[in-house]
Amino acid sequence: MKHRSIKGLLALLLVALAALAALAWRPSIAQSAPAPRSAFEPGLLRQGEQLAAIGNCASCHTAPEGPPFAGGTALKTPFGTIYGSNITPDPETGIGGWSEDAFRRALREGVSRDGHLLYPAFPYDHFTRLQDQDIAALYTFVMTRDPVRFVPPANKLVFPLQFRPLIAGWNLLYLDKGPRPPQASQSADWNRGAYLVDALAHCAACHSPRNQLGAERRDAAFDGGEAEGWHATALNVHSPSPVPWSAEALAAYLQTGLVADHAITAGPMQDVVHSLSHAPVEDVHAIAVYVQSLMGAPTPQQQARESASRQRASQPSVALPTPAGDAQLALGAGVFASSCASCHDLGRQLSSASGLRMPLAIALYLPDPRNLVHIVRDGIQPPPGQPGRWMPAFDGELSDDQIAALAAWLRQVAAAQPPWLDLAQAVQDSRKPSP
Ligand code: HEC
Ligand code: HEC
Ligand code: HEC
Repeated sequence: MKHRSIKGLLALLLVALAALAALAWRPSIAQSAPAPRSAFEPGLLRQGEQLAAIGNCASCHTAPEGPPFAGGTALKTPFGTIYGSNITPDPETGIGGWSEDAFRRALREGVSRDGHLLYPAFPYDHFTRLQDQDIAALYTFVMTRDPVRFVPPANKLVFPLQFRPLIAGWNLLYLDKGPRPPQASQSADWNRGAYLVDALAHCAACHSPRNQLGAERRDAAFDGGEAEGWHATALNVHSPSPVPWSAEALAAYLQTGLVADHAITAGPMQDVVHSLSHAPVEDVHAIAVYVQSLMGAPTPQQQARESASRQRASQPSVALPTPAGDAQLALGAGVFASSCASCHDLGRQLSSASGLRMPLAIALYLPDPRNLVHIVRDGIQPPPGQPGRWMPAFDGELSDDQIAALAAWLRQVAAAQPPWLDLAQAVQDSRKPSP
């Protein structure tokens, strides 16, 4: 009896595996000889370069200090480390032998030229919505890069995810294939912005929470997400920004990283902005119009939070009253006065290394203290080779207890927000390498 039910189970398992394999099977697309550079149209190439900046292909396909687009960039996910592929036109180790059809299939369906399924760490769940002419422009751009012979390291994934056919199940659940029609009721700018944000810039990949299988939660789009151990701020009606965003401020922020009354970009967002600084101004403006529409007009509560924040920011933060009798807050006030006030109580002056008054800093208003702790520990440096603003790193200078007390004081006194729970733990965790 027992024997028979085990046999039955085995048979069922085999059928399930066969079904998965059938679902996962994709034909290989034959290699084609790499076309010479002159075969590509210059106008399309220029357009492709701009689209690649908005799609930030380089962030995952160019390793730090490595040759452009040769891959090897380690992407840490909760499921292990996945390496960006070599997408230079090298015929053996890159995509030199790929036809435009093969390239289009990769972006639309997450399938490599030889038919194997690609992991959704590659945001094909967004690129699937790219229009054919934009895919053609990206193809032109990629195929005219310098070919580089390089094989990225093998992925290190938790069992059983090395088994790529499993991705077929993920695609069945979460891949919603193909472009979406524009919305007739919205402006041309809005529609352009919606398209760029969704199909190319994949902002939601960081700014939306994900479910246990690593898919973006569509019921909570732009509610705030994760990126490399940072919190990626909510960009919808739940935006916690102490000063509500206008489309103009967003456009300037996305192109320069620095606008009045808002914090400078930090962490993984720095790279996004650095890349968008090479995109056409009209496109960044369209992105800003769309993102602002997700946030909507400020609610009465958001207006009240803005005036209270501006009020607190109208004086040096050291003058803000610290509740008596709380030893941690007293310690935090002292750390702020000795380590931070000399720059941040001056208010931001572009001629010097002074910074925003703390009641306007978004990091104090987030659901957890990770971004603030990262900034204090590591400081803020402009991307390599870029001029920009510097904040010194305090790692080694301040102890974990001092950082936790400082964060508690900034949160409760400078931002007048309810205390962060498990602050000490978050400070400790920030020492560990991100997931
Ligand atoms: C968030 C990171 C990320 C971004 C952004 C990204 N990619 Fe990738 N891409 C990956 C990863 C990771 C892989 C490999 C996935 C795997 O091994 O299954 C990949 C694979 C690919 C492949 C398939 C290569 C092969 O040999 O199978 C192509 C083509 C590609 N990317 C093109 C692009 C283009 C074009 C852009 C910009 C429009 C882009 N990628 C942006 C992470 C990214
Ligand atoms: C030497 C001057 C200096 C010191 C000291 C300093 N900062 Fe900064 N900080 C800056 C600059 C410059 C920026 C970049 C952005 C700007 O212009 O506001 C910045 C940015 C920040 C930001 C992002 C918000 C923003 O201002 O754009 C936070 C949060 C922050 N600092 C917190 C701190 C804390 C907490 C301390 C004390 C541990 C500290 N800083 C010490 C100069 C400094
Ligand atoms: C790789 C992950 C990642 C991607 C992709 C990304 N962001 Fe961000 N973004 C972050 C993180 C992390 C922060 C928080 C750190 C900071 O404030 O600089 C942030 C902050 C922001 C902020 C500041 C919010 C505030 O209230 O201060 C805006 C606005 C923003 N992102 C817009 C965008 C838009 C628009 C896109 C797409 C074009 C995008 N982001 C793509 C990770 C990302």
